[in-house]
Amino acid sequence: MDRLYNIWLLFFLLPLLCACSGAKGQHEQYAAFHPGALWLDNESVHINAHGGGILYHEGVYYWFGEHKIAGRGGNSAQVGVQVYSSDDLYNWTNRGVALAVVETEGHDIERGSVIERPKVVYNAQTGKFVMWFHLELKGRGYEAARSAVAVADEVTGPYTFVESLRPNAGIWPENLDTAFRNTDVDVAAYEWWTPRWEKAITEGLLVRRDFEGGQMARDMTVFVDDDGKAYHVYSSEENLTLHIAELSDDYLSHTGRYIRIFPGGHNEAPALFKHAGRYYLIASGCTGWDPNAARSAVANSIWGPWEMLGNPAQGEGADLTFESQSTYVLPVAGKEGAFIFMGDRWRPRNPIDGRYVWLPIVFEEGQPVIRWHDSWDLTVFDK
Ligand code: GAL
Repeated sequence: MDRLYNIWLLFFLLPLLCACSGAKGQHEQYAAFHPGALWLDNESVHINAHGGGILYHEGVYYWFGEHKIAGRGGNSAQVGVQVYSSDDLYNWTNRGVALAVVETEGHDIERGSVIERPKVVYNAQTGKFVMWFHLELKGRGYEAARSAVAVADEVTGPYTFVESLRPNAGIWPENLDTAFRNTDVDVAAYEWWTPRWEKAITEGLLVRRDFEGGQMARDMTVFVDDDGKAYHVYSSEENLTLHIAELSDDYLSHTGRYIRIFPGGHNEAPALFKHAGRYYLIASGCTGWDPNAARSAVANSIWGPWEMLGNPAQGEGADLTFESQSTYVLPVAGKEGAFIFMGDRWRPRNPIDGRYVWLPIVFEEGQPVIRWHDSWDLTVFDK
């Protein structure tokens, strides 16, 4: 009997056990990026970190992004912000939920609110990790237009919610002409997108409308400069105009210094990076989940003036940014001038299936250029 059992174990049970563990165990390690393909984590599950950003800390990359679930409802936050870690950028380990939604009814980040585009930065002065994200309150569509901040002692969290707000309440942008610094406006008197409206937008119509309560802040990123100063860049004024706002030394609030850039330019999904002493911005147009043509801009100072550079994407598919929308530009550690464009290919009907489009940025005549690759690896930066 014993013998029979051993044989059974050897020929039947063992292979079965191996096959099963293989199915949910390790897939092969990646040695390249495959833009738009399923991207499996260490547990062979498609990475769930949409609208994300990356923090490089003590030799490890941490990818924070929106956790999405399957089905139409999957765009609202059911879980929170997910974090993965990697030391090669190809292979990612699921490190769990960094910021969890709250069950308390009426809480700003209660389950069912909208938590988008989380970006985490490390504050060397306080030793804390600070997460900013776009927040919409549960059941109120996109009308809240707030940004929110959370903080943690450990990079992977847990992050503690601090507050949500519309930035810079009661403060005028530095580059708004003093002639327009008054709240004496009647927005309803303007027909949407007539030449009159366009002029009024340029002259700060919506900044003036929102002066007291604070400025709308939806799609966003955070950028830390070489001197440790951090900036919050967000789509404001009904997504018509980008704002660049300085954060306090602890990165937890705004100092009140801010500018508007490209008034009426319809720029969303901002990603900011610095190369050879110049500041670059990549953004998208405003077509919701549908992709559109990216745009880029450059400035010698973060405070401007900012100059438009056009669509950084080139080649077939460039008109829709290879079916993606920017979320972050990642400087590759230890490789001078090496930057990765990170975009989302949204799947609003089944958000958990959203794909990631990561492509190398090259600089041609001082302009960032992004071209499609079916697959590529970091050696492209050595050429
Ligand atoms: C996009 C935006 C996304 C999300 C979406 C909702 O334009 O970039 O982050 O807010 O709209 O429709």
